[in-house]
Amino acid sequence: MIKEALRALRKGEMVLVFDSEDREGETDMIKAAEFVTHEDIAILRNDAGGLICAPISAKNAEKLGIPYMTSILETASNKYPVLSELSPHDIPYDEKSAFSITINHRNTFTGITDRDRAKTIRELALLCKNKEYDKFGKFFRSPGHVTLLIASKNNLLERTGHTEMSIALMEMAGLTEVAVCCEMMDDETGRALSMQDAKRYAERNDLVFLKGEELINAYYEYLGVP
Ligand code: 5RP
Ligand code: CA
Ligand code: ZN
Repeated sequence: MIKEALRALRKGEMVLVFDSEDREGETDMIKAAEFVTHEDIAILRNDAGGLICAPISAKNAEKLGIPYMTSILETASNKYPVLSELSPHDIPYDEKSAFSITINHRNTFTGITDRDRAKTIRELALLCKNKEYDKFGKFFRSPGHVTLLIASKNNLLERTGHTEMSIALMEMAGLTEVAVCCEMMDDETGRALSMQDAKRYAERNDLVFLKGEELINAYYEYLGVP
């Protein structure tokens, strides 16, 4: 299944990844950022419905000079003490948040349209692919409408979020380590879409569905970690 997922990602298709019952219990739609189109953003909005984010590798974040949002808030709390009271130390499903800054490409209008978000996400991937890290501020502004997520330094060896799973998939597929992800929601229950319903969606739409465990095992094997 993992091979099918990597093949699909290289072809520019989306894959569905359920993390685990012990974590968020959510399925994210994931795709390589370099291939994102405005039609994809419409699918993420309408069929997934969560927050459209762009996970990036720790290495890319470091090259771009982007921090985690927690680090920004901590630094700014010297001036605005309430920010330290907002510390996300009590997330119920993980030890740390992957959230970073929000951005828009400078050649967007409001930044929220499908075309604008697709441009922001795709251009970020191209900038990283071409190693034009020093042009980040020239081409992007913040705040914006695409939330960046930073994968942990040791990726899935350190944290098992969709952020790390997205980056592991990009790495194993040999793609630029910038992705797009969005959680699948259930309009009827007001909760996350169940794994069974996410699987059914994958079958109906001919998409690969992966369980986090399978992805994590494949990544360990890829790294040669016992
Ligand atoms: C951003 C999120 C989602 O859960 C997304 O899947 C990435 O986060 P994580 O790495 O924690 O799974 O929080 O909407
Ligand atoms: Ca999360
Ligand atoms: Zn998640």
